[in-house]
Amino acid sequence: MRRRLAAGNWKMNGITADLVEASAIGAAAQDAACEVVLCLPATLVPQATARNLNKALQLGGQDCHAELNGAFTGDISADMLADAGAACVIIGHSERRQFYGEIDVQVAAKAKAAWNAGLTAIICVGETEAQYRSGQTLDVLAAQIAISVPTDATPNNTVIAYEPIWAIGTGLTPTLKKISAVHAHLRDQLPDADIAILYGGSVSPGNAPDIMALGDVDGCLVGGASLTAEKFAPIITALETAK
Ligand code: 13P
Repeated sequence: MRRRLAAGNWKMNGITADLVEASAIGAAAQDAACEVVLCLPATLVPQATARNLNKALQLGGQDCHAELNGAFTGDISADMLADAGAACVIIGHSERRQFYGEIDVQVAAKAKAAWNAGLTAIICVGETEAQYRSGQTLDVLAAQIAISVPTDATPNNTVIAYEPIWAIGTGLTPTLKKISAVHAHLRDQLPDADIAILYGGSVSPGNAPDIMALGDVDGCLVGGASLTAEKFAPIITALETAK
């Protein structure tokens, strides 16, 4: 049985007052037949931990440094996230790759740092619109997986998130057939075929039931729609009831 996860990525959104939403999402996670994860801004992780939102709600970070500690002003280590109560961390999100120039070898190093801290690494891959339009999606993803995912990744310490960059925050998604084909292709590239693969990019309460029902889709990584329980709770339900 592969892991099934509904993961939210709050990105650079959320202050203390917004923890009411995290708390409502925690209530939706209660007795859920899948894992529910909220990757909060790092400032909110210890606060959410202190509030003891719900045992069923796992907390996550959105990035970590590859080193344990040191002179890296502004960065956060995987150990610090674990110490703050995180169970997971997103690694190599396309926004990190795009705005901070992160490359696959760094992603792999960060994934290992996450494992060493006892965190699940949610490793993101995805193609640009130009790559999609020119039919390079499968090749681009294979190259990203080959370097970003260390060969000793296991279903326990790693989750893959396929996020087409052109689908993030745009309301666009690939066709169901394309998502299925990509996930099956990704599974072939992984060091262990039982590693869970999430789909991300404009997941909404409307499209979640169809996307979550696809055979090789083990869950979702959700941006905008994870900010409120009103939108995220039906997505969790869609994943629970999909299969
Ligand atoms: P949206 O769900 O807002 O498109 O964001 C997806 C994403 O980047 C999650 O990591």
